[in-house]
Amino acid sequence: MSLLLSEQGDARLALDPESGRNRYGCLPFPGPRRPAFGSATASTISPQAFEALKALHQRVGLAPGWVQAAECDRVRAEIATLCGADSVPGSEVVLAPSGTDVHLLAAQLCASDDPQGRRRPLEVVLSPTEETGNGVPAALRGLHYNDATPFQGPAPALGPLDGCRAASLRVLAGRRPDGRARPIAEVDAEARVLVEGALSSGADVLLVVSDLSKTGLVFPSPGLAADMVRRHGGSLTVLIDACQLRLGPAAVRGYLEAGCAVGVTGSKFATGPAFSGALLVPPALAGAWRERDLAPSLSAYSARADWPKGWRPRGSLTYTVNTGLLFRWQAALTEMRAFRLLDPAAVAGFFSAFAVAVGGRLAQDPAFGTLDLPAPPARPGGGDGWDQVPTLLPFVLKRGGSPLPLDPARALYKAIREGLGEIGQPVAVGGGGGSQPLGAFRMCSSMRLAVEALGPGGRGGDAVIAEALAFLGSIAALAGRAA
Ligand SMILES: Cc1ncc(COP(=O)(O)O)c(C=O)c1O
Repeated sequence: MSLLLSEQGDARLALDPESGRNRYGCLPFPGPRRPAFGSATASTISPQAFEALKALHQRVGLAPGWVQAAECDRVRAEIATLCGADSVPGSEVVLAPSGTDVHLLAAQLCASDDPQGRRRPLEVVLSPTEETGNGVPAALRGLHYNDATPFQGPAPALGPLDGCRAASLRVLAGRRPDGRARPIAEVDAEARVLVEGALSSGADVLLVVSDLSKTGLVFPSPGLAADMVRRHGGSLTVLIDACQLRLGPAAVRGYLEAGCAVGVTGSKFATGPAFSGALLVPPALAGAWRERDLAPSLSAYSARADWPKGWRPRGSLTYTVNTGLLFRWQAALTEMRAFRLLDPAAVAGFFSAFAVAVGGRLAQDPAFGTLDLPAPPARPGGGDGWDQVPTLLPFVLKRGGSPLPLDPARALYKAIREGLGEIGQPVAVGGGGGSQPLGAFRMCSSMRLAVEALGPGGRGGDAVIAEALAFLGSIAALAGRAA
C-alpha cells in the first residue's frame, strides 16, 4: 500500500533504503505525530488520508487499467469541484505527476502546431527558480528535468525530450538582489515589456504568473495578466502557477473566466503526499488544446487517463493510467473535502491568528529575521477571505546576529526535519553582487491544520498555534547549538 504512494513519481519520491523516507524526509505512511508546518514543500500523509487510500486500494488496487482510468475521471471531476473550476462551464482538468509536470505539459500544449500547421517559436516569461519548482525552467523548455521519470525509469541524460518543442526563457524577478520585494508596478512594467517584446519578435508567449511563489509573492499582478490575455489572446497564454494552492474557488474561477490556465497541486497547502499536479484549462483554451498532438516521448511523464475523454493528446501516449498519481490525488482530495466543510470566515480567523502569532514571534525573537511579504494584488475573481491572509511565512535563521546563508540553512533543515518536525525547505533569497544567497525557511499553515483547529473533534486553533510557537523555540535552540 505504502509503496503505491511512491510509484510512478520521480527521484524526489524514491525512499531512502536506510531511513525509509523520501527526499523530503516524509514517510509513505502516517508515522508518529509531529509538528507539521512544512506544507510549502511536502507533508507526511495523514491517518485519515491513509484510510481513504486503503479503501481505494480494496476497490481498485488490483483492477485492470480501464477501471483505474474511470477513477481518474472521478478524481478530475472532484478536483474541478473542490478548486472551483466546475463553476466555469467548458473548463477541463488534466492530471500531471507533479507541479513541475504541469509546466512541462502547459508549454507543450502552447507550443504545438495550430490547425494551419503554424510553427512559431515559444518564449516563456517566468519567475526565477527560487520562486518556483527547481525543475520548472527545464520542464518549460521541453527538457527532462529530473534523473527519473514516472513511467520510463532514468531520464536519458537530462537532455531534450524527443520531438518536444524547445522554448526560450525570460526571467522576471519578484525580489530585489537584497531580498526585498519589488514594487508590483515595477514588476508589471517589466512583464509588459518582456511579453510585448517577445510577441513583436513573432514568438508565441507563455506568461507564468506566480500565485503564489515559494517565498509567498504574487507577481506579476493577476490584473495585468488578465488584461494582456484580453489584448493578445491567441499568441499569449497565461499560466497561473498556483501549485501551492493557497487560493480558494472564487480566485480560481476568476482566473479561468479571464482565460488563464491554472496549475495546482494536492501536495502543498492541501497536504496530500508529494506529488500530484493538475492543469485547470479554461474553456477558451480547452477547444484548441483538445485537438493537439503531443510528442510520444511525453509518455515518460503522462498517461492517457490523465486527460479528459475525447482529447487527442491521449492518442499520443503509451500507458493507460498512472496508479501512483491516482492514489496520491485520492489522499489530497480527502484533505481538501474536509477543509471545504469548514466555515470560510472561521478559517480566515484561524489563519490570521496563526500569521499574527507566528509572524510576531519571527519578528521579535533575535534568533530569526523576517522577509518582506506585501499584501497580494487583487485577483480577477476576488477571494474567499482566507486566501487574502498569508499562510506561508518566510524567515531566516540568525547565527551571531547574521542571517544564515543557503548552504548552512540546508544543513540545518535536514536536522530539523529529522529531529523536530516539518518545515518548508530553505530557498535562496538575495545574493546579488557576488554575495551568498540567504536560506529562507517557510512556516506554513495548511488545509490540514485548519481542519485540526476547527473541524469536528479538532484540538482548537490555540493548540495548533501553541505547537507552532514551541516548534519555533526548538528550532532556535537547535540553531543555537549548531553555532
Ligand atoms: C510555486 C511553485 N510552483 C511549482 C512547484 C513545483 O511543484 P512540484 O514540487 O509538485 O513539482 C513548486 C514546488 O515547491 C512551487 O512552490
